[in-house]
Amino acid sequence: MLTQGDKAPGAIDVVPLPVSVEQFAGSCPVSAGLEWRDQGPGGDRVREASARLLAGWERRLGCAWTFRPGRPPSPVLVAWEKAGAAIPLLGEDESYRLEISAAGTVLRAATDLGALRGLATLEQLLVVDGAGAWLPVVKIADRPRFPWRGLMVDVCRHWLPPAVIRRTLDGMALAKFNVLHLHLADDQGFRFESRTHPRLHERGSDGHYFTQAQLREIVAAAAARSFRVVPEMDVPGHATAWLAAYPELASQPGAYAVERRWGVHDAVLDPTNEKVYGLLADLFAELADVFPDPFVHIGGDENNGKHWGENADIQKFMVTSGLADHPALQAWLNRRVQRLLVGHGKQMVGWDEVLHPDLPRDTVIQSWRGADSLAEAARRGFRGMLSSGYYLDHCHPAAWHYGKDPLPADDVLTEEERARVLGGEAAVWTEWISEEMFDGRTWPRAAAVAERLWSPRAVTDTADLERRLAVLSERLAEHGLQHEQNEGRMIRRLAQGDPARAAILGIFASALAPIANYRRSRLQVGHTQATQLTGLEDAVRPDGAGPQRFAREVEEWLRDGQADAAQALAGQLRLWRGAAAQLITTEHGTLAVALADACDVGLEALSYPDGAAAVAADWAAEAMDRLAGAAAVRAPMDIAILVPLHRLVAATQIGRGPEEGFAGWRRRVEDAANLTDLVQRNLPPRG
Ligand code: ACM
Repeated sequence: MLTQGDKAPGAIDVVPLPVSVEQFAGSCPVSAGLEWRDQGPGGDRVREASARLLAGWERRLGCAWTFRPGRPPSPVLVAWEKAGAAIPLLGEDESYRLEISAAGTVLRAATDLGALRGLATLEQLLVVDGAGAWLPVVKIADRPRFPWRGLMVDVCRHWLPPAVIRRTLDGMALAKFNVLHLHLADDQGFRFESRTHPRLHERGSDGHYFTQAQLREIVAAAAARSFRVVPEMDVPGHATAWLAAYPELASQPGAYAVERRWGVHDAVLDPTNEKVYGLLADLFAELADVFPDPFVHIGGDENNGKHWGENADIQKFMVTSGLADHPALQAWLNRRVQRLLVGHGKQMVGWDEVLHPDLPRDTVIQSWRGADSLAEAARRGFRGMLSSGYYLDHCHPAAWHYGKDPLPADDVLTEEERARVLGGEAAVWTEWISEEMFDGRTWPRAAAVAERLWSPRAVTDTADLERRLAVLSERLAEHGLQHEQNEGRMIRRLAQGDPARAAILGIFASALAPIANYRRSRLQVGHTQATQLTGLEDAVRPDGAGPQRFAREVEEWLRDGQADAAQALAGQLRLWRGAAAQLITTEHGTLAVALADACDVGLEALSYPDGAAAVAADWAAEAMDRLAGAAAVRAPMDIAILVPLHRLVAATQIGRGPEEGFAGWRRRVEDAANLTDLVQRNLPPRG
């Protein structure tokens, strides 16, 4: 039996990895005329999902494939016992069993939701190769680890129209997410059509907002995929766009306009103004009408309290109400907000700043400033979910996010406290992400978070994850996700119609990644919502195939020592070096010089004889310094091949032929290469 974490060759290419997979010899051919049956109460959702699966398979084959009832060489049966809630609820049964034999496929689930999750697995299992189209013979039993597996999308900083959200839902379905969290209002945009207070979207959105009809369609499309949709209205901070419409609700007088800059701003709603609660009451009524989910997110993050501190009336109110500080005042506001939500049968979700003893214990805390707040919330009796470590716009590789666990093995919580940890959400903040970049900054890395939230904690093999994500990436593209195509398109646009230049930029870009964390905001100061995001740094992706392949091939060469592998590595380095050399006089000059030198270091390391522990230590020390220099270049992109280059240099010092076994040898390479800084990047607070 293949259990999770096994790296067996031929292991199934499914993300998230199922809880249990037994794989047997043989295959189940799939061909036109496939008989497809479903059996269970209700069933519209299953039939629609089946149609999407078959359309995906047709795109994979590249030809229309008529699935008509007929003599079944390998029929598919999808069966479930009861219909889940029409609008899915937190904690419904999503388990399924999938058995594929040469005689056919049987997918069984307790609910139609489970059937949908099983279909997401089945779709990914299809193999198309020289032998035709076939399914592996497997027995799979699967269920999620956590009930709340979300993707948060910020449609405020950069507007993302409904088409983007619709294709995002298809990506989410493949990755078995089950919550779409829409961040609908922030300093830079109010994106919800308010019928009671239309000034909000009229003055707060530059004309870019979701109509209620569009949102109902999104909710329906999500429900058809068995996802919940949680809307967020961020209060009392992050509310400049509200104040552009209603400046009288502010804590400081002023003429407010939609904020164009990023960061934390002083504008904040006045908690002592009754009109604030009147507006919120009307808005929540509208939200409740559009979003049936029992949870509403009220934000609550990053209120710097400056304008509260400067307002004498607010300070007096705090004294007379016995509110010791601004967090206490915000908790007082949150209590009132929460009572408004209760009136609509809603439970409140907030970022971790809302955590306060005065809040009712059905509040859900979304931890973003560090995993500690999640444990803290659980200890204090609140449910919570993790987003710290899951900010995809930080541009870390998938493996980095994958390493963050809502319930790490060394947590010190009781069983009761652990049960309060509902899961987590990947988050895509869009300060540095335009509409055409959104898919590339989200996929396929979001699926690494989806797997962390679905699969057992013991599933941690990052090499296997990367292999499976590369396959999933193609599946996502078949569903219309634009992460792969937009990078090339943006590079061609930069080349202004010159194909040779596009090729050079493409090769150069394939060694790079956008800089991680929010270092870019320190490098490109003064950027605003009006700045065009059309540079090479916007086109490149955090998990490019080029650096991943290079890292894998370096590792293989270090392990196996095939001479032709060394030649292939050298060929790749010369290609990168050549492209960089042609860009030295351009705006990318500094980075191009650094990449060329880093490639030279790699070529020099490869030129030493096998196991050449005798190579001068001074050369290696200097080579490490050169790589450190390449890492330190001030540019909006990182050279993404430095870790494998460090390994090549380290290997010249301790030799390649590991007698103690590869793992121990590799540890020595890591020590020699002093990779800590490169591999473990710190995560500074957002803002
Ligand atoms: C946040 O990132 N301010 C929730």
